[in-house]
Amino acid sequence: MTKLITTLLAAFLYAGTAMAASTNVLLAQSEANVSDEASLQRGASLYFNYCAGCHSIKYMRYTRIASDLNLSEDQLMNNLVFTGAKPGDLVTAAMPESSADWFGAAPPDLSLTARSRGSDWIYSYLKAFYVDPSRPLGWNNTVFPAASMPNVLWDRQGIQTLATHGDEGGHGMRLEDQFELAVEGTRTAAQFTQDARDITNFLTYVGEPAALQREKYGIWVFFYLLLLTGLLYVLKHEYWRDVH
Ligand code: HEC
Repeated sequence: MTKLITTLLAAFLYAGTAMAASTNVLLAQSEANVSDEASLQRGASLYFNYCAGCHSIKYMRYTRIASDLNLSEDQLMNNLVFTGAKPGDLVTAAMPESSADWFGAAPPDLSLTARSRGSDWIYSYLKAFYVDPSRPLGWNNTVFPAASMPNVLWDRQGIQTLATHGDEGGHGMRLEDQFELAVEGTRTAAQFTQDARDITNFLTYVGEPAALQREKYGIWVFFYLLLLTGLLYVLKHEYWRDVH
């Protein structure tokens, strides 16, 4: 028995170090909050403007997103549907499958990325692009080195270069210390942080849409249980009245 426990413990500790070794960049906190509806709406709009051309979120329908995020039919058609898709369609990418040939890797479906990679990873990734002339598309990323995605948000963020101080590649450095802004974007640093957070928030919702419902229904379940407790209490009294 002791042997089993030690083996399990060793395996656990080993897994811990292996995981720590695989990321050498400190992720920034996304502070994504799926109950912030305004943030989800902005995130959806940004997502459909900047990401949906390449990435699908194939388990979602436009109508589901609109109703979850309290968007009207007009807002849905103007902010989310650009591809000529019908509101009831699944959210596929505008790009053909063969786009892998253009980028070197196919843009993956992002339905479950918030679950597999985590919200902080997505948030940090969106803020970690920098110019690197040695890369085919001229962009590199400290969170996902040699990623074949260009910085699609560069007009908003501006153009970052790797900071010349500190160690190369920003290993172990805080995200915000790794870069210098070479060209200003249309958004201030704080506004771009909000952009990245909103998109991350939207993808976090996409990863688990039921989380929204759970929050809405939670309070009703609570009241139901409270009511039930009261009823059962009264019932118990009824049953035991003759005994006592
Ligand atoms: C021009 C096409 C294109 C656009 C637009 C685009 N991406 Fe990508 N994205 C890619 C490609 C290609 C990859 C695969 C990178 C690799 O594996 O090297 C990728 C990878 C990713 C990944 C990593 C997924 C994983 O688990 O490996 C995330 C997250 C991501 N993109 C998010 C976004 C977001 C958010 C947007 C919008 C702000 C966006 N992408 C816009 C092409 C694109």
